[in-house]
Order: sequence, then C-alpha cells, then structure tokens
Amino acid sequence: MLITLEGPDGSGKSTQIGPLAEFLRQKGYSVLATREPGGTPIGDQIRRILMDLKNAEMQPHTEILLFLAARAQLVEQVIRPHLSQGGLVLCDRYADSTLAYQGYGLGADLQTLRLMLDFATGSLKPDLTLLLDIDVEVGLQRRKDCGGEWNRLDANELAYHQRVRQGYLALAKEEPQRWVVIDAGRSGDLVQADLQRTILARLENTLNPTPLRRNHA
Ligand code: TYD
Repeated sequence: MLITLEGPDGSGKSTQIGPLAEFLRQKGYSVLATREPGGTPIGDQIRRILMDLKNAEMQPHTEILLFLAARAQLVEQVIRPHLSQGGLVLCDRYADSTLAYQGYGLGADLQTLRLMLDFATGSLKPDLTLLLDIDVEVGLQRRKDCGGEWNRLDANELAYHQRVRQGYLALAKEEPQRWVVIDAGRSGDLVQADLQRTILARLENTLNPTPLRRNHA
C-alpha cells in the first residue's frame, strides 16, 4: 500500500511521519518512510537545485521537470521495490504536490500535468492520501518559528500559498475515497492520533474487506 501525506508548508507532515512509521512498524507492518523531493541520492541532488534561494530565475517548466525527475527516480529505485515485497510505503509528498503547487499555485495546466505525472510515476497512484490542512499564515509562521529550512518555494507570495491550499481541498473533494482531510491546526499529538486511526482503519478494511453480499435474485 502506498500512503501519501500532503499539505501546505508548515502543516507538520515531516514531524508526523517518523512517529507514524514507528507506530505502524510496531503493529507489524514493513514500513518504508520517504520524502519528496529527495529520497534517493539523485533526488537529493535535484532537491538542492529546487530549494536553493539563489535559483530565483528558475522557470515554471524547469521546476516541474525537476520535481518529476526526482519522483521518477524515487518510484523506480525505492517505492516500487518495497511495494512489490508486500511492504507499506509512507511518502511525505507525492504527485498531488505537483498538482497543488505547480498546477493550482503556479497556474500550470492540470490536464497536461496529470499526463506528465503518469509518465513520471508509471501511473503509480497512492491508495490513501492524508491531507494535513492548515491555515496558510499559521503554517508559514510555524515554519519560521521552527527555525528550519526557509527555501525558494517557501519564499513565494502569500496568495500563491493560498492557491495551493485551495488546490489541495479541491483535489480532496474530487476523489473523496482516496483523500482524508485532517485538521493540522491542532496539537501534534491530536494530529498523530488521527493519522494513526485513519491508516489503521484503512489497512484493516483492505486486508479484511467486508464480504460482499450476494444478491440471490
Ligand atoms: P520541504 O522542505 O520538503 O517542505 P515540506 O516539509 O513542507 O514538505 O520542501 C518541499 C517544497 O517543495 C514545498 O514547498 C512543496 C514543494 N513541492 C512542489 O512545489 N512540488 C512538488 O511536486 C513537490 C514534491 C514539492
């Protein structure tokens, strides 16, 4: 099963993924946790180009292709091999980040992006996507307060981040069976508990599906 965490900057995904992976391991699942862009040596090199504040002249199409290149490498080198061994992959960001940030945020055509995403991922889709939804200004403030990395993408204008958040909510509405929206404006413990509950419920449902009722017409 491929489970992705998505959300605006400062929504806490990167803090939540470690304890979440640990929790699932304790439940007996073989969990591989990774992140985008990055997760492979090639992906990490691409990440540095993408995040570098000095690369202010980067064009939207360049940005899209770099994100997709990092993802193509991650899918083939890391994600597919683990899935094919029956493992569970938890990924901090995936294809929906490109739709939200480069599509809704930068205004790239969504239909074209979807075709490109299919190409980059070999059409590998998440089974479950958790959206850590947060007010954009609260999220950006958190990022500044944490003293973590402040990168080229964080430095975009507020309206861009607002479009990203609205984009995520639109994507979640389009595919309600895949997405679960979690209020990430609350304390980390409450968010973690929701993530754990949601994933366990989905795993139990997938592994022990309720038998379909036969219709003896
Ligand atoms: P990162 O430091 O990993 O932030 P976060 O902890 O919020 O994930 O930076 C990743 C940045 O890259 C983030 O601003 C979102 C952006 N991004 C895109 O714009 N498109 C993409 O396809 C991906 C994967 C990330």
